[in-house]
Amino acid sequence: MKKEALLSVRDLTVVFDTHHGTVRAVDGVSFDLAAGETLGLVGESGSGKTVSSLALMGLVPSPPGTVERGSALFEGRDLLALPARELRRVRGAKIAMIFQDPMTSLNPLLTVGRQLTEVLEVHLGTNRREARRVAAARLGGVGIPSPDERLDAYPHELSGGMRQRVMIAMALMCGPSVLFADEPTTALDVTIQAQILDLLRGLQEKEGMSIVMITHDLGVVAGMADRVHVMYAGRLVEAGPTRELFAQPAHPYTRGLLASVPRLAGDPNEALYAIPGQPPDLARLDAGCAYAPRCAFAVDGCGAAVPPLERTTEARLAACFELARVARGEESHA
Ligand SMILES: Nc1ncnc2c1ncn2[C@@H]1O[C@H](COP(=O)(O)OP(=O)(O)O)[C@@H](O)[C@H]1O
Ligand SMILES: [Mg+2]
Repeated sequence: MKKEALLSVRDLTVVFDTHHGTVRAVDGVSFDLAAGETLGLVGESGSGKTVSSLALMGLVPSPPGTVERGSALFEGRDLLALPARELRRVRGAKIAMIFQDPMTSLNPLLTVGRQLTEVLEVHLGTNRREARRVAAARLGGVGIPSPDERLDAYPHELSGGMRQRVMIAMALMCGPSVLFADEPTTALDVTIQAQILDLLRGLQEKEGMSIVMITHDLGVVAGMADRVHVMYAGRLVEAGPTRELFAQPAHPYTRGLLASVPRLAGDPNEALYAIPGQPPDLARLDAGCAYAPRCAFAVDGCGAAVPPLERTTEARLAACFELARVARGEESHA
């Protein structure tokens, strides 16, 4: 049975005015997020993952950025059309975000406790004493030892992993129904990375929120996401249930991404694959498929038009003119 969408994004398009020209950072992105599901949003650096989430949070820096088109229905309202005041009420309360680098969102001058309680005071009008109690409980809930004492610590007094836990606690203060986690473990070493992912998994089970897990690393979404969306050059190029998509990637780009993940590529002694070339300059995109210049399956026609994202099975979508040949593994040039 298909679950009703909690967040329904249609045709999201975000442009930046730069001195190289107009950059289409996010171009016609549509997706549904069901209640309680984890959606992995993957793609190389610069593919538009962060900007997509910033747009839904109303945080695209403007100028130079503009949300050019699109809608994002959440609880019957279009987030992209909400007046700033109302959006502020939703942001942080019902939709929250955690970032790769906690120091960009934690205020170095305020204690951890002050930053956590402020969220509750602003959004829910909770009194300070009660807010402090909730804050300590939240810190305990994200695995921070002696939470009462930690409330009086400043961010720089904590390790990177502990700061990331504080960020997560802060994002969860008001019990959001959607959490954008933007590369939440990229800055951490592997052991801590695994702990934070475990923590997010556990929290999701307990709180039942939806998570959009943004990462350049398919390995991170493997054990976490119900579905995966793959972005390339500002567009969605493939979407589907995680297990199916990993077992049988349809789009050449997804195949390339999977082949470049050591934990997923199979034999650890085999030389690791790297997708040849670089992502395109978004200010100078050609008329055709943005991946064609790097694609082993590309033929002349791929340069003529952008392939639309089309349904290939009930649960899967892909944007490629040559899917049948790709599935048979017939590369254009050996
Ligand atoms: N503040 C900005 N000014 C100009 N261009 C930007 C800005 N932020 C992002 N971009 C453009 O948007 C593209 C997508 O960025 P981003 O969403 O951060 O990528 P990622 O997938 O790594 O999160 C970048 O490649 C860049 O061209
Ligand atoms: Mg990013």
